[in-house]
Amino acid sequence: MSEIKNLVDQNSEKYLNELFTLLRIPSVSADPKYKEEVLRMAEAIKDSLISAGADNVEICPTPGFPIVYGDKMIDPSLPTVLVYGHYDVQPADPIHLWTNPPFEPVIKDGKIYARGSADDKGQVFMHVKAFELMLQNNMLPCNIKFMIEGEEEVGSANLDEFLMNNKEKLKADCVLVSDTSMIANDIPSITTGLRGLSYVEVEVTGPNRDLHSGVYGGGVANPINVLCDMIASLKDSDLHITIPGFYDDVIELSDGERTAINSAPFDVDAYKSELKIGDVMGETGYTTLERTATRPTLDVNGIWGGYTGEGAKTVLPSKAYAKISMRLVPNQSPDKVTELFKNHFESIAPEGVQVDVRPHHGGWPVVTPTDSIEYQAAAAAMKATFGKDPIPSRGGGSIPIVASFEKILGLKTVLMGFGLDTDDIHSPDEHYGVFNYLKGIETIPYFYKYYAEFKKA
Ligand code: BES
Ligand code: MN
Ligand code: MN
Repeated sequence: MSEIKNLVDQNSEKYLNELFTLLRIPSVSADPKYKEEVLRMAEAIKDSLISAGADNVEICPTPGFPIVYGDKMIDPSLPTVLVYGHYDVQPADPIHLWTNPPFEPVIKDGKIYARGSADDKGQVFMHVKAFELMLQNNMLPCNIKFMIEGEEEVGSANLDEFLMNNKEKLKADCVLVSDTSMIANDIPSITTGLRGLSYVEVEVTGPNRDLHSGVYGGGVANPINVLCDMIASLKDSDLHITIPGFYDDVIELSDGERTAINSAPFDVDAYKSELKIGDVMGETGYTTLERTATRPTLDVNGIWGGYTGEGAKTVLPSKAYAKISMRLVPNQSPDKVTELFKNHFESIAPEGVQVDVRPHHGGWPVVTPTDSIEYQAAAAAMKATFGKDPIPSRGGGSIPIVASFEKILGLKTVLMGFGLDTDDIHSPDEHYGVFNYLKGIETIPYFYKYYAEFKKA
């Protein structure tokens, strides 16, 4: 099947141009200002599925942004693969840190620079193009269903209900997702775990109005100072999280599992120099790979309050805010952790302030098996195109829907992503390698080939 590589090479310019059209649509789901653009993006995905040859293509409304569905059922006796991805993107802010405008894609040094290039438009579109290629060349060995959503970056709040209401429509043998990264372009890997998430916003209120920091300073609680103290107290000197009960459900890894995780290629000096940090930092007793993939975390994502404009203004603010995320590992429940956080955070507030904890979205952690047929098919596909067996590796990010596929549809997911951790997803100058994009299109048809073969055997 090296004819696949030839076909991808022959069409590479077309594949890139078509992706660029999608990257020009600012489908930012978090910001209501972009609502029309997100809807326009759903239409564009629909059109791309139709022109690739999918049937039953429709835009399924939800209380939020719609889900785009399309399928190709060639033979009911063949296995069916449900392809999931998301067409929404993270906000581009801070926009002034982008070298080129985020929604005007350019290729530089072999990389496609644009918001959503790697997360997840580029990776979604690999599937659309691979499907088109298989269909045009009579090499589609499975039935395919596409389900591309528009609210992943804001927590997929309407997805569980969509799954529950569309069990028949979404009936499949497994789910295939490309929304994760590999270790390196010459070290292919398949993600075998994702962390869960509990995300909260906190508001600390002191005096009923902003005050002169000279007239009142020293006499009343400053909510920003208090918030900083409260946040600082959430970790001890070993960087363990101090919320009572936080670790209760965490399953400690066996020595064997730890050895396996730490045997993945990882160069801490390259990591430090790429990030321009003097040293790594994290929980005592764990390596960087363990810390970022197998341990729960607590991080402030944003903190604000008081005066942040030009120059100096002496003010003792009335309010302070923070957005806090906790990444969870297997067996930790997002709802339970959110509750533990809320109770603890309220309990440590001094009398002089009021604290309000508002839960945002959450998601369950997942671990995917490596002995499943779908994992084996993905591994064989990567071996065919990279020339090397991929390494199973647990990732630190979250895709909450993966747990729902299992819980609601009873389906296992294979996380065959082609990005790199250095793609700067969610950051300025997000990019996706041209190599990775084309390699993805080349590898996906092999997945179907091996999946059909292994299922039959
Ligand atoms: N594609 C990412 C998740 C990801 C990236 C997993 C890289 C593994 C490696 C996804 O779009 C994402 O950003 N998810 C959010 C969670 C969501 C609930 C906002 C995340 O991980 O912060
Ligand atoms: Mn994503
Ligand atoms: Mn993302």
